[in-house]
Amino acid sequence: MIDQQIKAAVRDIPDFPKPGIVFKDITTILKDPKLCENIINAFVDQLQGIRIDAIAGVESRGFLFGLTLATRLGVPFIPVRKAGKLPYTIRQKKYDLEYGTATIEMHTDAFEPGQHILLHDDLLATGGTVTAASELIQDMGGVVAGFSFVVGLGFLKGKERIAPISNKIIILAEY
Ligand code: PRP
Ligand code: MG
Repeated sequence: MIDQQIKAAVRDIPDFPKPGIVFKDITTILKDPKLCENIINAFVDQLQGIRIDAIAGVESRGFLFGLTLATRLGVPFIPVRKAGKLPYTIRQKKYDLEYGTATIEMHTDAFEPGQHILLHDDLLATGGTVTAASELIQDMGGVVAGFSFVVGLGFLKGKERIAPISNKIIILAEY
């Protein structure tokens, strides 16, 4: 099954980016085009019947499968970027990290009010990043249609954090 295929490919890197963290390296998935295709197919299957007007992917690893999925579904892709990268007029949202804060931005014309936006990222950890992205979408009049992740770290309780935003949460491989 897809979760076993993903887990067989993901590489654990101990003590990256700092001591005590076991980093889930997904670059090993990207080396396998058949697995990438299976991942997109699994997302498409699990998104049947859901209204999706566009997919927003979070910089940078959310771009990897986000655009491919959007292209497959025939909907626009919206880049959610870290501060200072988008050239047109932007809306932004600050959010807390373990140490300090981060800011994400979207173009003000990324989508139309009332549109249903699927939020995609490679990995769900604490859920802080996609919670901020959800708030930004909602501030701009959008509806969060759901979430899709290749990998989830269940022990960090991200799913519980984002469930009040949308209960459509797709995680292909959960640890
Ligand atoms: C990682 C990962 C998710 C986020 C998950 O991105 O790709 O975007 O962290 O963490 P959270 O659920 O606790 O918010 P990172 O900020 O490391 O940047 P990158 O995607 O540019 O590598
Ligand atoms: Mg990321």
